[in-house]
Amino acid sequence: MLKDIFIALSENQTLNGAAKKYGLKMGAQHVVAGTNIEETMESIKKLNAIGISCTVDNLGEFVFEKEEALAAKEQIIAVIEAIEEHQVDAHISLKPSQLGLDIDYDFALENLKEITAVANKYGTFINIDMESYKHLQPSFDILDELSKEYDNVGTVIQAYFYRAVEDIQKYKNFRLRIVKGAYKEPAEYAYQTKEEIDQNYVELIEWHLLNGKFTSIATHDHHVINHIKQFIKDNNISNDKYEFQMLYGFRTDMQQQLAKEGYNFCTYVPFGSDWYGYFMRRLAERPQNMNLVVKQVFNK
Ligand code: FDA
Repeated sequence: MLKDIFIALSENQTLNGAAKKYGLKMGAQHVVAGTNIEETMESIKKLNAIGISCTVDNLGEFVFEKEEALAAKEQIIAVIEAIEEHQVDAHISLKPSQLGLDIDYDFALENLKEITAVANKYGTFINIDMESYKHLQPSFDILDELSKEYDNVGTVIQAYFYRAVEDIQKYKNFRLRIVKGAYKEPAEYAYQTKEEIDQNYVELIEWHLLNGKFTSIATHDHHVINHIKQFIKDNNISNDKYEFQMLYGFRTDMQQQLAKEGYNFCTYVPFGSDWYGYFMRRLAERPQNMNLVVKQVFNK
């Protein structure tokens, strides 16, 4: 119920627009690394210093104007250049909708090609984040097109989709991030219960660890993490075949602990002024994150 409310809030375009004007509020600064590239590079350096790599996301959604998509493209290219200039251990996560997928497929594809070409020059990996169901097939189509020319691209498999099991097989030779799935999807395409999603999630991770190129296990769920750690041990999966990923600001102790134990760990670092939708989806996943909001209100 609360989940549905936060998902609806995340999709409210008026609130998304208003939030851009007012900087990081409501506790969002705990889960968003900064509003600009310089601040974000400093956050990344701190994580790199304790052995954690990063994937950087220039926040932004609901892009329906070409100018906005072109501005997002320039900003992402500026991040790639900053990664090179600062020599930080980081790559890029991006959302096709931010680059114009809701406007025109070919336009979005051209923007992604331009970004991937620049990233390829510096050896920087580009992860295509997965959004809601309507973006799924076009995003895979973009990946197919990009991979004809470049090998520094990969994507995300969302375990709540029934088709995830076919997608993971088709894309097993890509670096894949495997997640449970963050959007509200109907039973027509997606598992609805936590049990079903969790079970499919673990099965997909195990399959890709055994058969895939490189697996990013992206979850804050300690049950899954502990199970997978044992699976990795039992199956002698080598360290260079996988990493764990979590979002910036969540379970920071566990992130540091995994890195200390010698696991490759990558933190997903979102930044920018367009933080509202991202923040609401995190509240939807875990209403306890409301603590962040409450603390913020009372700390004024
Ligand atoms: P889930 O929310 O299912 O929680 C399971 C259990 O873990 C909880 O019951 C609790 O015990 C524990 N737990 C979880 N969070 C906790 C916390 N903060 N503190 C203490 N305990 C906690 N989605 C998508 O659709 N497309 C994408 O591209 C991505 N990308 C992405 C990247 C990265 C790095 C991550 C970590 C996640 C995504 N996601 C995503 C989001 C993903 O699909 C999913 O919605 C969230 O990760 C929430 O699910 P979890 O697996 O983390 O645990």
